[in-house]
Amino acid sequence: MSAPAPGIARASPLLTFRELTVTFGHGERSVRPVDGVSFELEPGDRLAVVGESGCGKSTLAAAILDVIPSPGRVTGGEVSIDGQPVSTLDRDELEHVRAATVAMVFQSAMNAFNPVLTIGTQVEHILRAHPGVFASQAEGRKHFEYLLELVRLDPARVVRSYESELSGGMKQRVAIAVAVLLSPKLVVLDEPTTALDVWNQRVVISILHELHRTLGIAIMLVTHDLAVVAEVATKVAVMYAGRLVEYGGVDEIFHGQRRHPYVAALIGAIPSVLKGGLTVRPIPGQVPSLAELAPGCRFAPRCQRAVTICHQQEPALLADGGDHLVACHVVNAGELVTGV
Ligand SMILES: Nc1ncnc2c1ncn2[C@@H]1O[C@H](COP(=O)(O)OP(=O)(O)OP(=O)(O)O)[C@@H](O)[C@H]1O
Ligand code: SF4
Ligand SMILES: [Mg+2]
Repeated sequence: MSAPAPGIARASPLLTFRELTVTFGHGERSVRPVDGVSFELEPGDRLAVVGESGCGKSTLAAAILDVIPSPGRVTGGEVSIDGQPVSTLDRDELEHVRAATVAMVFQSAMNAFNPVLTIGTQVEHILRAHPGVFASQAEGRKHFEYLLELVRLDPARVVRSYESELSGGMKQRVAIAVAVLLSPKLVVLDEPTTALDVWNQRVVISILHELHRTLGIAIMLVTHDLAVVAEVATKVAVMYAGRLVEYGGVDEIFHGQRRHPYVAALIGAIPSVLKGGLTVRPIPGQVPSLAELAPGCRFAPRCQRAVTICHQQEPALLADGGDHLVACHVVNAGELVTGV
């Protein structure tokens, strides 16, 4: 089913996913971790892509810069950056987009550095590879030092350090500073807080706010942590088993009444302290294997709201007149989902 892209009437989205499908494998053994996904991100947006492990979040992010790990490939639809389909870009153009428009901090960012070169030397290499961005190498180095201060690190110490001399939290922050060095319009961060302790999570969250406020960079945050989403994002795209099941403003997602039952269950699974005790309501069951999907709604086996049609027909992603999209037979028939 074709999903309408939200915000379509607005001018110039920075990033557009249109019916994007990514396939791993061939024939009967193939799986589609991204299956007909459509949405848009506008300049300056702070958008979170959420969903449980294995729902296709990292694959979606990797498709933006055409870095889907082999044997994955785009088999339908397209991703466009500034209106230009990524599939039409040659190597040099893609390199230019990576430098000037979209930067990515991968899920394994902490291992992204060369262990035998100092951080300063690695940054020199990046600046040399993109000579037009700053007036001089010295200007580029100065800007990197400013960014290190922005991510609350001591520039003098970091530039002469090897990655082994930095803690996990410091590496994540250096990775963010390196990603925004060439002043991209968008930075995509895949699980930037997951491997960090609570203190470093807080620091990264406030850094993301600072990057957005000071540099005006749009943020696409990939995470399974709804608590982080609530603090960072203004828009949310929720994925379940390769499908986009809800898209909307953060208030609609967290406080609205027209909510996808999966999203209501995810919110219910956030630990909360109520009536003096710790309450956690985990979602029963697990994300289905993408190789063995039953007909109908992919969430049906775990959904407490499921009705007969849910097991027969995949629900369409429908808007309620605005940009809030939900793929659920029950919700789109007018029933509200306020809890689980
Ligand atoms: N290299 C690969 N080879 C084969 N299948 C893959 C590969 N990478 C991903 N997949 C398939 O895509 C699915 C989604 O993977 P992806 O890494 O995008 O999920 P995710 O939502 O980012 O999960 P997590 O929260 O654990 O990072 C996997 O469950 C798997 O079926
Ligand atoms: S379509 Fe049915 S099974 Fe799927 S989320 Fe909605 S109520 Fe649940
Ligand atoms: Mg991932």
